[in-house]
Amino acid sequence: MKCRRCKALAAVALPSHHAGFCPDCFRKFFLKQVETAIRRKKMILPEDKILVALSGGKDSLALMEALTRLGYQPVGLHVDLKIPGSSDVARKTVEDFCSRRGLRLIVADMEEWGLPIPEVRRKVKRPICSICGKIKRHAFNRIALEQGFDVLATGHNLDDETARLFANTLRWDEAHMAGQSPSLPAENGFARKIKPLYRLSEFETAAFAFLTDIEYTTAPCPYSRGASFTAHKALLAQLEARSPGSKISFYEGFLERGRPAFQNRDSDKEQLAPCQYCGMPTSAGACGVCRVRQLLQQS
Ligand code: AMP
Ligand code: FES
Ligand code: ZN
Repeated sequence: MKCRRCKALAAVALPSHHAGFCPDCFRKFFLKQVETAIRRKKMILPEDKILVALSGGKDSLALMEALTRLGYQPVGLHVDLKIPGSSDVARKTVEDFCSRRGLRLIVADMEEWGLPIPEVRRKVKRPICSICGKIKRHAFNRIALEQGFDVLATGHNLDDETARLFANTLRWDEAHMAGQSPSLPAENGFARKIKPLYRLSEFETAAFAFLTDIEYTTAPCPYSRGASFTAHKALLAQLEARSPGSKISFYEGFLERGRPAFQNRDSDKEQLAPCQYCGMPTSAGACGVCRVRQLLQQS
């Protein structure tokens, strides 16, 4: 197969685009997709201060690399969860990535925040992954707002987004469908959130990471029974193999025609006020994360 742009030998085949690319043209293609996402969804204004949540995995590091190559000056944020056997590797991967490229990194250490995940797991009798997700989102929002960032970017890709949409659609979960978007405005005490990789598949971000010499971690979290939405991703991959382009048209179609219908029914939003301890928005006096912290302090 030949490269679509320069006719050299192709190194990456992309059936959904009916194309193959050589390494150099693939990197350009990838950056163009990120640029298109940012422009179409008005994700970033020229003067915005950008915070990128970096887990140490391929997606978030590829996103950071792409934003810097596009001329932005993003700052990284890593949340060190203190999980034995995975957090040390993740933190070191992110620290090495940022120091090699001269990028500023903020580390939020959950031990220092009174929220080490192993301790949370011992004390709270609910599934740890959902509480841990809540704690991470809380840390992202708190750092973004307290340190004056305009926008928070995460590395969610097309496979993450379509699998989540598929799961929401199977349940006709209107509230979650109304809230699913690659670009959510700042409101009610939440920072603006963006997902600039939403047009790119997991395979494409892995290829970009490989072709830009990104060293990322693949160590799974020892507490999760596998990546989220694995079964949905497998089904959508079958659909994509039979009918290339299905995933992006499913998602773009939802954003253009599906989501507006649900957004209008989103009228019964909870009234939010600042948490009395941390100031983050909550419907109760103390937010869920501060209540978990208090539970840990009691014993
Ligand atoms: P996940 O929910 O693990 O698939 O991660 C989705 C996105 O959340 C990643 O692409 C990162 O942008 C961000 N993220 C996940 N875990 C962390 C972490 N420990 N620190 C900073 N960002 C994270
Ligand atoms: Fe949070 Fe696994 S990363 S429980
Ligand atoms: Zn709080």
